[in-house]
Order: sequence, then structure tokens, then C-alpha cells
Amino acid sequence: MSDLTWGQRYAMCAPTFFDVVYSINPWMGGTVDPDVAMTQWETLAAAIRMAGGEVDVVQPMADLPDMVFVANAGVVSGPAFIPGAMRYPERAPETAAFVQWAGAVGFTVERLPEGAVLEGTGDAMPLGDVVVSGYGARTNRAAHAALTRLTDVEVVPVRLQDPRWYHVDLTLCPLDSRRAMVYPEAYDRAGAAAVIAHIAEPLVLTEAEAATFAANSIVVGRTVIMPACPPRVGRLLEAWGFDVVVVDVGEFQKAGGAVRCLTLPLDTSIGRDRVAQMEVA
Ligand code: ARG
Repeated sequence: MSDLTWGQRYAMCAPTFFDVVYSINPWMGGTVDPDVAMTQWETLAAAIRMAGGEVDVVQPMADLPDMVFVANAGVVSGPAFIPGAMRYPERAPETAAFVQWAGAVGFTVERLPEGAVLEGTGDAMPLGDVVVSGYGARTNRAAHAALTRLTDVEVVPVRLQDPRWYHVDLTLCPLDSRRAMVYPEAYDRAGAAAVIAHIAEPLVLTEAEAATFAANSIVVGRTVIMPACPPRVGRLLEAWGFDVVVVDVGEFQKAGGAVRCLTLPLDTSIGRDRVAQMEVA
């Protein structure tokens, strides 16, 4: 068992313009308190740094209230940034801002073809040698084919069949080289079986546990930063030697997002970039 090869460096985008003004997933609703949101976001950034991780900040833009959810911005593979393409027009303009940012910080930008919908790492989760990617809610199969073409990665497609679990990062959180939290009931049967086959020791969440957004967590070395930690999950994580840090991101859950959604890992390598990385190591 070894730690994840990624999860030490993240992009985040401050919630200066965050709000819930439209509804594109069943969790969206309620009134956001902007001061509370800002404090929660700052607490999350501080928790990542405390755990030994780095945070790069992306400039927020007015009129893009979901831009805080940087997990959907794209997928990083080694030196490349593959910009996402959003399903809903409300979020589509975010992409141009992220492309500009990625170029400015030194990534090479590799574009998806016309027609591909890919909601970033939020819907394309690296799991060992493969990437687990949702479809049927946001991301489409054309994006899976494009990801493979661009990076050579094996995509494990999972059909997301319940509108509550509209991104794969609400249902899957890799913990280390052997373990991951997973809520397979969100997937079609073939997808669930394929994902479970890629996890040596799965921590299978119940529906109630998944509904706390426990899987929407990030892992910085041996620290799991979670929006909520159901007691059974906490006991298992601690028995496996993880430190659990809970950061309340309740304001963001009013938009259907939590810890993972608020962060984009910048140190992921998939497909041929991962093979190259493993050869160097
Ligand atoms: N309101 C946003 C949306 O529906 C939330 C995105 C959450 N992001 C995530 N990676 N799950 O698109």
C-alpha cells in the first residue's frame, strides 16, 4: 500500500461571486450567506495547506456563480490541461477563463473535439491506472473517447442514473493505492462492477452516508479533508491510518458541491503521462 501519487497541489477559485441563482442539480436552493461562504472557503484552503498541500488561486469572474467549483474546469495530465466543456449554458463561459488561467500558469492546453461534454475531474476521477468517468448526467461518451485519444488512458464509464449523483466525484474518492470510498449504487450494474474491480479494499458507502457528501472529499497524503464524516466512515478511515479533517462547506452544498468540487488537483497524470511518471519514480 502506498499513498496516492497525486493530491498535493490544487487550484481553487474564491467565492467572491458565488451564489445560487439557477438550478441545474436537485441540491440547488436556499440563500447563500456570502460572508459564511468566504470563511468556509478560506478554512478549506487553510486545511489543505495544514495537511502539507499547495493551493493556487484562480481569479473569480462576475456572473459565473458556480466558477468556485473548479473540479469541473478540466483535467490535468502531467504538463497538459484538458479544458472541460460544460453541459449547461449557465456554466459554459467558465471554460474560457480557465483556459486563460491554465496557459498563464504554464500548462499546455489540449482541446476536446466539438460535441464532447466533460465536466472536469469532477466527472473523470483517476483511480490507479484508469479514470472513472460518469455519463448520462453531465459528461458524455464522446468525451470519454476524446480523453483516451488525447492521453491513452483507459476510461471506466459509469452511467449515473440518479439525478442526485450527477458527477462521479459525489460517489468516489480514491484514498491510497488500495483503497477508495465508493457509492456503487449510483452507477449502472456494469459500471459498479467495473469500479469495484479496480479497488482492492473498497469502503462502500450507504445511501445515507453518500448523502452527507462524504465521498466529495480530498486526500492530501494521509489526511482526508471531508465536508462531513459519518461515524462508521470515520472509524474505518482512522483504522486505515488516515487523519480526518472535517471542513464545513454547507454554503456550497446549497449549490450541490462540497470539498472535492471546490478543488482541482493539478498534479494528476493519466494514461501515457502516468506511465512516464511511474518510469521516472
Ligand atoms: N452547481 C454546480 C453544478 O451543478 C455544482 C458543481 C459541483 N461540482 C462537482 N465537481 N461535483 O454544476
